[in-house]
Amino acid sequence: MSLSTVFVTGGAGYIGSHCIVELLSAGYEVIVVDNFVNSVNGPDGEAMALKRVETITGKSITFYECDLLDKSALEAIFAKHKIDCVIHFAAIKSVGESMEYPLLYYKNNLIGMLNLLEIMEQFGCYQLVFSSSCTVYGEPSFLPITEEHSVGNSITNVYGKTKYFIEEMLQDITHANKKWNIIALRYFNPLGAHPSGLMGEDPIKPFANIMPLISQVAMGRLPVLTIFGGDYNTEDGTGVRDYIHVMDLATGHVAALSLLQKSHQNYKVYNLGTGEGVSVLQLVKTFEKVTGTTIPFKIVERREGDISVMYANADLAEKELGWKSKHTLEEMCTDFWRWQTMNPHGYRNKTTKMTNGH
Ligand code: NAD
Ligand code: WQD
Repeated sequence: MSLSTVFVTGGAGYIGSHCIVELLSAGYEVIVVDNFVNSVNGPDGEAMALKRVETITGKSITFYECDLLDKSALEAIFAKHKIDCVIHFAAIKSVGESMEYPLLYYKNNLIGMLNLLEIMEQFGCYQLVFSSSCTVYGEPSFLPITEEHSVGNSITNVYGKTKYFIEEMLQDITHANKKWNIIALRYFNPLGAHPSGLMGEDPIKPFANIMPLISQVAMGRLPVLTIFGGDYNTEDGTGVRDYIHVMDLATGHVAALSLLQKSHQNYKVYNLGTGEGVSVLQLVKTFEKVTGTTIPFKIVERREGDISVMYANADLAEKELGWKSKHTLEEMCTDFWRWQTMNPHGYRNKTTKMTNGH
């Protein structure tokens, strides 16, 4: 018997697809929507990442191609299925693009969330896990960052503001209506891939995050890694982040859902990170060590809007969700590389037109 039915938005994407593996293994049924704005579809409109999830788990997934901006399509899905809870991953997430096209970001991320909340309310579905981000903290005033750290003060980009505004929205609706039972998870920097090598990160939009770029250099598709800033006040001068394995994030969502189903939370926020700060150079060295590759790099000016050091205090998630990250940085690099080498063209076949230099 299944635990309950989870509606997963953006489930064809990187974190969503990995999370669905864990949800199915934990006994949930899933109904997934995505509009393929940043994930790969196949010739019959199927989500390629979800095909791999089905291979790994031996379970089948109900999938709809649906844009959250299309409220009536969303309504039709809620009318057709009895949905118990929602995990909302769907968003566009490129920091640079969000500065160029702020309206696109506000429309997609804020209206998408609004539509979903209204439909949930209409169908009496009040349980939600929301994908937030460490970006809501802006420049840290203390480290490691706890959930009590101020949010919204120094966010340097539009994407980050959409996460902050949604958190504010969630706080307001949960205050007004105690039926809501919502957890916002603030992820730090997700890395890695499913250990099978069958699933990983394969965006449509160009790569901007560090790990896919390191990997492109390792594959010989980029000549050199550009490291932004060598003069930060850190051990080796490069920026420090809290990198977390995507499978740890996945188990974090299962833990959050399980808490929502056990007890009424109204509104809670948790950091999902390892609690460890890792510099760009440390990440590059670890990647080289575990993959046996060499990553030529050059250190250039700092990237505008970058934060120097950011890492989590994840004690609250351990205490209240019973969750703790398990995977090491070595595993994040090994698993990412396994995915990349087993699938040099990602989910796409070689004849498909590629972006990102695939
Ligand atoms: P992703 O781009 O791989 O996945 C997001 C999915 O949402 C994509 O498949 C995309 O096609 C879909 N989508 C976007 N807008 C949609 C819409 N209007 N309707 C339907 N589908 C839509 O990104 P990800 O890395 O898996 O991120 C998942 C969530 O986690 C996002 O909300 C992101 O902001 C958040 N997050 C990501 C990171 C990160 O570094 N990857 C860090 C913190 C938070
Ligand atoms: C990591 C480190 C860079 C690229 C972003 C979003 C944030 C969150 C996670 C969603 C930094 C350095 C990077 C490169 C480099 N996403 N770097 N050369 O900036 O911490 O966070 O993703 O919510 O909102 O802003 O991640 O992977 O871009 O950078 O030196 O080519 O790698 O300066 O120190 P970031 P990132």
